[in-house]
Amino acid sequence: MSEYVNQTIETIFKRKTVRDFTDKPVSKETIEELIKAGMAAPTAVNSQPWEFIVVTDKNMMKEFAQSLQFSRMLDTATAAIIVCTDPQKSKDKDLNYAVIDATLASENILIAAESVGLGGAWVAIYPKNTVVDYMRKTLNIPESIIPLNVIPLGFPVGNEKPKNKFNQNVIHYEKW
Ligand SMILES: Cc1cc2nc3c(=O)[nH]c(=O)nc-3n(C[C@H](O)[C@H](O)[C@H](O)COP(=O)(O)O)c2cc1C
Repeated sequence: MSEYVNQTIETIFKRKTVRDFTDKPVSKETIEELIKAGMAAPTAVNSQPWEFIVVTDKNMMKEFAQSLQFSRMLDTATAAIIVCTDPQKSKDKDLNYAVIDATLASENILIAAESVGLGGAWVAIYPKNTVVDYMRKTLNIPESIIPLNVIPLGFPVGNEKPKNKFNQNVIHYEKW
């Protein structure tokens, strides 16, 4: 075991996509703490182009579960964060930077969720155009904003285990 293993690294290794949740609710305070962790992510020229939509309405989440592919976790999630990004605010107003920055915020949210005993997942919206349009319409999101993902949240039932993805073969020293 590496000498650098600490709580942060352990949490990173423990994070996994969680798809089944108990009915214990997640408090607003916790959701805001997770979003705060999202906002601590690095961004190109510190542009912070993100926006976050919090949904706790069960009926709405069930509707998402029916409308989005691979999203059954929204059936049991007790909250969801929709991470959005605004290319008008990103470095050079570049879509790529906007997506990269909001992706980093999303990963922070997923790791922070793991660290407080919650589970989460990345449910894809962008770059599926029909899903982007559906989410814009359903949540009243302006045309200029890109909804990137839905992060369903809740207390895990405990079905999922972290995967060991370490692969020495993809590490190159000095040159490929
Ligand atoms: C860009 C992106 C899109 C994803 N979309 C979905 C999705 O729509 N539905 C889903 O169940 N999981 C989705 N995932 C989660 C992946 O399936 C999951 O991260 C991967 O299988 C690795 O498992 P782990 O997160 O437990 O390490 C997505 C992940 C990423 C990064």
